[in-house]
Amino acid sequence: MLDLRRVFTLLESRLPGHTLPQEFYNDPEIFEFDLEAIHSRSWILVGVEAELPSAGSYLATTIGRSPVVVVRDNDGTLRGFHNSCRHRGAQICETGHGRKGRLVCPYHQWTYRLDGSLQGAARMQATFDPDAIRLQPVHLENVAGSLYVCLADEPPDFEEFRDGLTPLLAPHRLADAKLAHESTLVERANWKLVMENARECYHCAARHPGLSFPFPVRRGSRQPDSPVIQQFEARMAAAGLAVGPVEGEWWQASRFPLNEAASP
Ligand code: FES
Repeated sequence: MLDLRRVFTLLESRLPGHTLPQEFYNDPEIFEFDLEAIHSRSWILVGVEAELPSAGSYLATTIGRSPVVVVRDNDGTLRGFHNSCRHRGAQICETGHGRKGRLVCPYHQWTYRLDGSLQGAARMQATFDPDAIRLQPVHLENVAGSLYVCLADEPPDFEEFRDGLTPLLAPHRLADAKLAHESTLVERANWKLVMENARECYHCAARHPGLSFPFPVRRGSRQPDSPVIQQFEARMAAAGLAVGPVEGEWWQASRFPLNEAASP
């Protein structure tokens, strides 16, 4: 049983400007708290529309310990489900993406339509009603081709995020993009270390020398009063493109220039 007082006491012990107490990175009990308090209740980016190009396309992933699947129905609608069979809970679609005419559970072959309804279940008793059974839905949102899932019964507000991100992302027409390459990166670390690492570029010049060619890794080059930023903002304004930054309680977004030598 999770001791919430311990979690909050640890949080209060954090020194401002310092990293979290060690337990937040290596204590199994705190990890369980993360899964419940954050992964099970937040909007989480699961992919982009380019991964689901046609009817029957699916994208299967795991949020915390919960397998989920996003499916494109025959009429083009995207739907999100728990990727878990209503019979005995087997995972239906393999992790990754692909295309199927029906979703068939590998365990006993219950077969679901792309809208999540149960089409067939062999050798069930006469009283069995397939129309009463469908895959359990999850909340799914699409912002300019980027797909977000929330496992909570009552998800947090999404509209402020949609309104903030859409002007920045929509001009890139992600829904019309094609998947050209993908790679899977498994980081053997607590998820917070991965997030923290991604939020700072203090390490970039030393650890990713190739990145400093296209990406403005030096802090000064992205300050609002830098000539590069001012010229960029003028160019974007002339093209009618928003630059931000915009942010909310759990998100932020902005458009900034790559280094001149790396621009097409
Ligand atoms: Fe899926 Fe039995 S668990 S058909």
